[in-house]
Amino acid sequence: MGSGQWHVEKRSTFRNDSFVREYGIVPETGCLSIIVLGASGDLAKKKTFPALFNLYRQGFLNPDEVHIFGYARTKISDEELRDRIRGYLVDEKNAEQAEALSKFLQLIKYVSGPYDAEEGFQRLDKAISEHEISKNSTEGSSRRLFYLALPPSVYPSVCKMIKTCCMNKSDLGGWTRIVVEKPFGKDLESAEQLSSQIGELFDESQIYRIDHYLGKELVQNMLVLRFANRFFLPLWNRDNIENVQIVFREDFGTEGRGGYFDEYGIIRDIIQNHLLQVLCLVAMEKPISLKPEHIRDEKVKVLQSVVPISDDEVVLGQYEGYRDDDTVPNDSNTPTFATTILRIHNERWEGVPFILKAGKALNSRKAEIRIQFKDVPGDIFRCQKQGRNEFVIRLQPSEAMYMKLTVKQPGLDMNTVQSELDLSYGQRYQGVAIPEAYERLILDTIKGDQQHFVRRDELKVAWEIFTPLLHRIDKGEVKSIPYKPGSRGPKEADQLLEKAGYLQT
Ligand code: NDP
Ligand code: BG6
Repeated sequence: MGSGQWHVEKRSTFRNDSFVREYGIVPETGCLSIIVLGASGDLAKKKTFPALFNLYRQGFLNPDEVHIFGYARTKISDEELRDRIRGYLVDEKNAEQAEALSKFLQLIKYVSGPYDAEEGFQRLDKAISEHEISKNSTEGSSRRLFYLALPPSVYPSVCKMIKTCCMNKSDLGGWTRIVVEKPFGKDLESAEQLSSQIGELFDESQIYRIDHYLGKELVQNMLVLRFANRFFLPLWNRDNIENVQIVFREDFGTEGRGGYFDEYGIIRDIIQNHLLQVLCLVAMEKPISLKPEHIRDEKVKVLQSVVPISDDEVVLGQYEGYRDDDTVPNDSNTPTFATTILRIHNERWEGVPFILKAGKALNSRKAEIRIQFKDVPGDIFRCQKQGRNEFVIRLQPSEAMYMKLTVKQPGLDMNTVQSELDLSYGQRYQGVAIPEAYERLILDTIKGDQQHFVRRDELKVAWEIFTPLLHRIDKGEVKSIPYKPGSRGPKEADQLLEKAGYLQT
């Protein structure tokens, strides 16, 4: 067994040996080819290559087995690609990292070619095969991981080219997997069309739809938190919870991505995927096991219980100055902010508003889940009430979980005060490096663990929830309200929160 895989199993909590035996996720060794398509692009240099480097540095990618290929149309040499990404990988002053960096960069080769012609992919296949033969003495007996860091418009043709020219060819083991990035379509119809096109070429078990929020530490903690702690079990329902908020804020605008963003807007960019995935983990029932399919079955069920969104439970905003971007039309109605309430029609959640809120160019950068509990019945301290119990899970920055609760103000008087039980990761887990979401997810794709990836039926229901609203926004029937950059967003959003029963604690 290669050292990389051994580390994986040793370091993982769920993925210990018994888990591997029980669920059949078998650590594999042998030649591994990771192919980054769109290697010249933004995502590749900022996220994909840095994640690969960190995995390499920590011993998860065994240099005796792995080779990395970049592929794109831009005509550059191996060395030019290495130069482009070098600055994103490492603090070069750190001598230990600098040494690892130079070894890592030697594992990268670049092949230039189009996305829709066999000729380029045949050259790519030849390069992969040469690597395989050098390691295994057999062509095609490797694990081939294709990472599509590309605009979705080229997914179908790229998948077709991979299928035609670049599949793992050996019967002796190995596999071919495809990682695709959001956005997976623009609405239900386009997403289904994309799924069908890719689905004709690859099995669902070969397709890894990344939602990088599923790789965040505290998002991954949700199942443990909910189902491994006795004191949450009886409280996690409509009898005790008044409302749930899932919030994403950024303190910068669309900055250079105006063209992309204007076509999609904040609901497609953040809410329909990242925040909805978080909602699933907060609201789903306990899966019968930790098998990826069991978890994803529960996520689908809860999504299917979401009722259509009502227009009076939506507030859209657009920050002033958004249209100054040359790539954004002067009359754009695209929301850069949205608050929307989802309602789940099931026994656990009937009547509990799930408030999803996301915005760009706001007053802070933060992503958090806020679970607000109901008031204490027959409260004998009501005359000095300090606030409600609220459980906050801060996904970023500075990962933390804290519970707001009422305690006696220390001192001689019997006064109450709002305080916190605080688990701040920076303090509690000093010295523990929290991995980047992309590191974890790429490692999962290598291990064949689809738990943290979006299944086709999950994606379909996610689009079913938002498509009617998105179409109304696209037609201009729901308007975006202007808000000042650096503010909390439109005041109407706070009013909606209040109407939904949220109380500032
Ligand atoms: P880029 O616009 O940088 O595109 C990546 C590469 O694809 C480019 O270098 C270019 O390579 C090629 N390309 C660009 N436009 C086209 C086109 N119209 N037709 C064919 N090829 C094209 O995208 P990103 O790297 O920003 O994003 C890649 C994917 O990841 C997208 O699906 C995006 O939505 C998603 N994503 C990106 C994030 C980010 O932070 N950037 C975050 C989350 C998701 P060449 O011309 O050399 O072939
Ligand atoms: C991406 C969105 O999916 O997530 C971006 O396209 C957004 O608009 C980004 O900035 C936020 O990711 P994170 O991990 O920084 O919260």
